[in-house]
Amino acid sequence: MSSAELSVFIRAIGVHTPERKLMNADLAAMVDTSDEWIKTRSGISERRIAGAGENPSDMGAKAANQALGRAKVAAADVDLLIVATMTPDVPFPSTACLLQAKLGLRRDIPCFDVSAACSGFVYALQVAKDMMRGGAYRRALVVGAEKLSSVVDWSDRTTCVLFGDGAGAALLETTATPDVGLLGNILGADGSNAELLHCAAGGSAAPATAESLREGRHFLRMNGKEVFRHAVRVMAESCERVLAKCGVRSEQVAWFIPHQANIRILEAVASQLNVGMERFPSNLGRYGNTSAASIPLALEEAWKDGKIRHGDLVLIVAFGAGLTWGATLLRWHEPTR
Ligand code: COA
Repeated sequence: MSSAELSVFIRAIGVHTPERKLMNADLAAMVDTSDEWIKTRSGISERRIAGAGENPSDMGAKAANQALGRAKVAAADVDLLIVATMTPDVPFPSTACLLQAKLGLRRDIPCFDVSAACSGFVYALQVAKDMMRGGAYRRALVVGAEKLSSVVDWSDRTTCVLFGDGAGAALLETTATPDVGLLGNILGADGSNAELLHCAAGGSAAPATAESLREGRHFLRMNGKEVFRHAVRVMAESCERVLAKCGVRSEQVAWFIPHQANIRILEAVASQLNVGMERFPSNLGRYGNTSAASIPLALEEAWKDGKIRHGDLVLIVAFGAGLTWGATLLRWHEPTR
């Protein structure tokens, strides 16, 4: 078999979420909101909040070490590291480089970040797959790690109730077994709608100044209604497109693992696809929207709960700031069975 035919599969997943829980009742003491409003409009009951020394590279290291431990793979055997994050530890260097040092990975491997907001994990999976399938890299860590609590305006009730912190890591590996692992993918973006969900200051176009800080321009801002509308349409279309590309019908998919943004978005996507919510496992209620970490967190939970089994078709789909979106169809593969 030529190396061009290698399959790339998720060998193991690891996760980490901070200890500290922020409940809806805690938020109701901070802004004009209620447990009932948040639950009804978003499905979220609680979210995790990272502490001062608990940055995306720290959470990512814990998640990646769990994935390596589960697969019994040594750090020295990792050939590639990609981190998906919209809340990097610092503007530069990349969170991937900071994570490389924390994990003790080799120095002769590429380590870089992917910036695609909540679609970051799906983007990074595809980049890793395309780098690996030619055979140059046998094992890759793809990590989604976010500390959204650091960019949320805690006085803005329209956004602060939705987001949380956490990390998830997938250890990818190549195999000569055909038709397993990451089968097909679609990615897309629409930069003309960038302002729907963005952070206006803190980058090189508008460096942090006393004025920008006073005006709160370094916080995440969102047009919730418009984002909602785009999210439903684009996530449903992405699922349909990737299924058509792979020649698979939605009935054949065992599990849909969408980016965990809002339970009403997930319900609307499931309804458009004519798929029951029992095939859309969700942990949104406990973690809120953790951006690039949300899919690995939900995937790991569905695997740990015994839902996802060897041979299952799983469709992951994401949507986020950019705007960006992506979907990947994969066949779950456990070579040690
Ligand atoms: N608590 C109480 N009231 C709130 C509130 C809160 N936390 N946030 C907003 N409101 C108020 C609004 O001010 C508005 O009041 P008004 O009618 O007096 O103007 C009212 O609730 C309805 O607001 P609306 O924006 O219409 O609510 P909604 O049903 O659209 O839900 C979101 C708001 C943000 C939950 C919803 O739009 C959403 O989830 N959007 C997508 C967000 C997302 O997932 N982003 C990330 C994508 S990766």
